[in-house]
This record gives sequence, C-alpha cells and structure tokens, in this order.
Amino acid sequence: MTILGIETSCDETSAAVIEGEDNKILLKSNIISSSLRMHQKTGGIIPENAAREQIKYIIPVIKKALFVAKTKLKNIDGIALTYGPGLIGSLLVGVETAKTIAFTQNIPIIPVNHMMGHIYANWIENSHIEFPAIALVVSGGHTDLLLIKNHRDYTLLGGTRDDAAGEAFDKIGRLIGFSYPAGPGIENAAKTGDPKHFRFPRPLIGSNDFDFSFSGLKTAVLREVQTIKNLDKQTIDDISCATQEAIVDVLVKKTLKAALKHQAKSILISGGVSANQKLRDTFNTMINAQRLKTKLFAPPKSLCTDNAAMIAAYAFYNYNPVSWKEVTADPELYFD
Ligand code: KG4
Ligand code: ZN
Repeated sequence: MTILGIETSCDETSAAVIEGEDNKILLKSNIISSSLRMHQKTGGIIPENAAREQIKYIIPVIKKALFVAKTKLKNIDGIALTYGPGLIGSLLVGVETAKTIAFTQNIPIIPVNHMMGHIYANWIENSHIEFPAIALVVSGGHTDLLLIKNHRDYTLLGGTRDDAAGEAFDKIGRLIGFSYPAGPGIENAAKTGDPKHFRFPRPLIGSNDFDFSFSGLKTAVLREVQTIKNLDKQTIDDISCATQEAIVDVLVKKTLKAALKHQAKSILISGGVSANQKLRDTFNTMINAQRLKTKLFAPPKSLCTDNAAMIAAYAFYNYNPVSWKEVTADPELYFD
C-alpha cells in the first residue's frame, strides 16, 4: 500500500510517500518546507503569514515528494491528511488540496489527528513496538500523556493545564535572549551551565493525576531574571540548565509513573521537545535505575518536529479511509 501524507497544520508544509507492507513502513520521501525563518523575524508565528506560505509551497512540495519517491499520483492508494489541531488558515490549505486531489484522482482520504501523527513518528523506523504503551507528546502546543493499548485503542491520561513544555522552553528562552523556537538554544546553553546555581519549581510533580503545568515555572524564572543586573553568558547557561532540568524532571517522573501503573512495555516520546537529548538520556537512566521492564522509543530527531511521514505512518497503522466529502479542518481537535 502506497500512502501520500500531507501536513500543513502550522508553519511547515510537508508531503511524504511511504510504502507499507505487512507490519512495516518504507519511507520513500519526506519533503518539508518551513517558513520558520520568516516567523523568527516577527518573534513568533503570525497565522496569516503562515497560511500564505502554505499556499506558495503545497503544490511544489507534493510534486517533489512524488518525484523523490519515483512515483505518480495514479499509484497512490490513500492520502493521509492532517485535519487538526492547528492554525485554521494553514490547515485549510492542506485540506482543500488533499480534497481536490482525492476528487480528481478518485483516491480515498485518511484524516489524521496531528498529535497522533507525532506519536506514530516512532513507527517509521521501528515496527516492533509492544503494547501497552505510554505515549508522551511534547510539542509547542501540547503536553499529553496517553495509554495506547493497541492501534485504534487509546485513552488520554492527562495533559497540560496551561503552558505546554515546548511553550515553556520558548517563553523562558525569550526572557533570556533566545530567538524562537528556543528549545534547541536552551539545550545547547545548558551543556555549559552549572546545575547547582539555580533551582526552579517542578509544578505538579507529585500530584495524583497525570496533568502538567508549566506557567509557574515561567513566572519563577521571570522573577529570578528581574533580580539579575548582568545577564552574562554564564548566567544564561545556568538558567538554561536549571530550566531544562525542571522540565525534564517533571516529564520523566510523570511518564514513568504512568508506565508503572499501566505496566507499559513501551514508552513512546514524540513532538519537538522529544528531540531534547537530556530528556532521552534521563528517561533511559531512570528506567535502568528503577529496573522497569519498559523500553524507551524516540523518533529520529529529524522526525520529532512537524512532518508528513508521521501522518502517513499513522494512516497506515490505523487505516480508516473516507470520501473527500466528509473531510473538514478542525483547528480545535483534541483526542477523540
Ligand atoms: O512538534 P513541534 O515541531 O511543533 C508543534 O506541533 O508545536 O514542536 C515545537 C516545539 C518548540 O516549542 C521548540 O522550542 C521545541 O519543540 N523544541 C525543543 C527542542 N527542539 C524543539 N525543546 C527542547 N529541546 C529541543 N532540542
Ligand atoms: Zn506538531
């Protein structure tokens, strides 16, 4: 089965071709055009600008994905499409393009929840993921924990009550002079930071649920920064280190608690923040220290941020085709 994936939920325009056989995926192409540099100039994403860029790039990106995969539309069995959540203008570009292709070429569409797509980035290079699995989705807009008992069978355990983990990296990064998105900058600066210089709060770390909250952390860093007269490089590195430690600590502790409770055989991390090496290392260290019988999976770093390959991967394992007439964008989509 050959699937064309289309992803346009935010500032990345992406198309990918995968071939799925038995239980395995072969990634034939994954083209991503990002308007990130344009948004860096404005200090964040202006939705109208992101949508205009999507319109410019969607057709060339799809053409290139087919070309690199050495295939043509007539060989495509299904179009996997992100229909939400995301920015409405950006989503509509992908949705209307996919519907037009589906109508003219008579191809079914598999509508995909962007957040589930992030989780399925884990299956692109690993077909043998055992259930039950605990999935942690950590991106710019989401911090969610899910229990996945099987394909098509998942339950939301908890989510963020305010800022997402990526949002915390970005907002704190802005306070100490990093441009958007600040996660990679903070990770890099933390390497030369002194972990003992600052200690920031770990909100909800001991709570009895699986919810997260990061806005208090941001406020704590803001208060600290306001007392500092000279924000030199070493201080920035130290704040970065303490911020990363606080965020990683909460994410790992709560995820392992869920894994233990549900006797998870696998932990799947995904989303932009899952590219963070400190997060990956801490998970592995803690799994070993607690002698848990659970295995950590993380997508290749290039597949942690938005891409169409993960959308196609979800569609392959959760094949649920519909007619183009039934597809609409849903910017507020959460987990069903
Ligand atoms: O999944 P993603 O590309 O977009 C959304 O769907 O939101 O995630 C983007 C987020 C940003 O907040 C960015 O700062 C964060 O992921 N991020 C990181 C790292 N790389 C990206 N956070 C921490 N460490 C990183 N290495
Ligand atoms: Zn995303």
